[in-house]
Amino acid sequence: MDTQLVYFENEAAPACRLAEAVGLRASVITRHDFPDQELMLTLAASLDEALPPTLVVYRSLDRPNDKLVELMLIARHARRLGVTRLILVVPYLAYMRQDIAFHPGEIVSQPLIGAFLGELFDALITVDPHLHRISRLGEVMPRIQTRTLSGAPRLADLIQKKRRNPLLLGPDAESHQWVEVAAAATGFDHGVCHKVRHGDTRVEIALPALDLRGREVVLMDDIASSGHTLARAAEAVLAAGAASVDVAVTHALFAGDARGVIRQAGVNEVWSTDCIAHPSNAVAMAPTLGQALADLLGELGGEAKSPVRGEAQSERQDAVQSGVKREAP
Ligand code: R5P
Repeated sequence: MDTQLVYFENEAAPACRLAEAVGLRASVITRHDFPDQELMLTLAASLDEALPPTLVVYRSLDRPNDKLVELMLIARHARRLGVTRLILVVPYLAYMRQDIAFHPGEIVSQPLIGAFLGELFDALITVDPHLHRISRLGEVMPRIQTRTLSGAPRLADLIQKKRRNPLLLGPDAESHQWVEVAAAATGFDHGVCHKVRHGDTRVEIALPALDLRGREVVLMDDIASSGHTLARAAEAVLAAGAASVDVAVTHALFAGDARGVIRQAGVNEVWSTDCIAHPSNAVAMAPTLGQALADLLGELGGEAKSPVRGEAQSERQDAVQSGVKREAP
């Protein structure tokens, strides 16, 4: 077999769904944490000596710091054993939000993490990376192939099943891209709030000029981190007379007590994709990721069967609607 996928135990479910969609053999990497917090990684026995020419690494970069070391160890080891093509499937790509220095001396992490991953891997597939001041992931990692997918079409499908005639609302200007994709797919009313962030957990939200009285509102965003963006938006929406407010996000980071913060603000249900493993996961991204990975392997000349047709076809349409960005180096 020319191509295999490796994953970590705590992401076994989404990684194996992806491997199955693409028809790849998957094996687990085990991680041992020494008492001094150094790491030891162990490949499955079948990969002990010989690695395939193409290796796909599945790792989502929530709580990213140790995981960046994991990726460095895997990639460098694989190169030493002769792997010629290394593909990173990273459903959540961390450090993309730090794209400018707000104070003197701040180290801007976005291009540095981009360069780090770009040196380790030949290609990278991710979902809704938070690119604010740039429009293409290729600007962050110019030397490798990148594929940018979106969770919005699948979240839109889910919302359609859960609510009859909701109003889709983005909590800030950046969220218009996801809200517009979902609104175009469903025909639901939509709008976007104005947000001012004063600190990690201090956020102000101003609602758009829409009549929310009696509406079932679904807040859509790429990331829920501290939860304060969604919480302030939910409070404003309910104060404006909405009947209910639910949340749909691509990346369920939910740091600290974020879920409590959101619940206290009056949010009813929270739905997320499985880009980050979390109890709120309601949408599997394997069909979308699988199509992109199969296409990429096809282009690079790796081995992959086409994903299961029916699903892959609708995913391809999703991809077109959401503007999957295919960037060559
Ligand atoms: C930023 O603009 C993102 O789209 C999210 O709105 C933000 O990261 C959410 O962060 P938090 O949950 O900490 O307010």
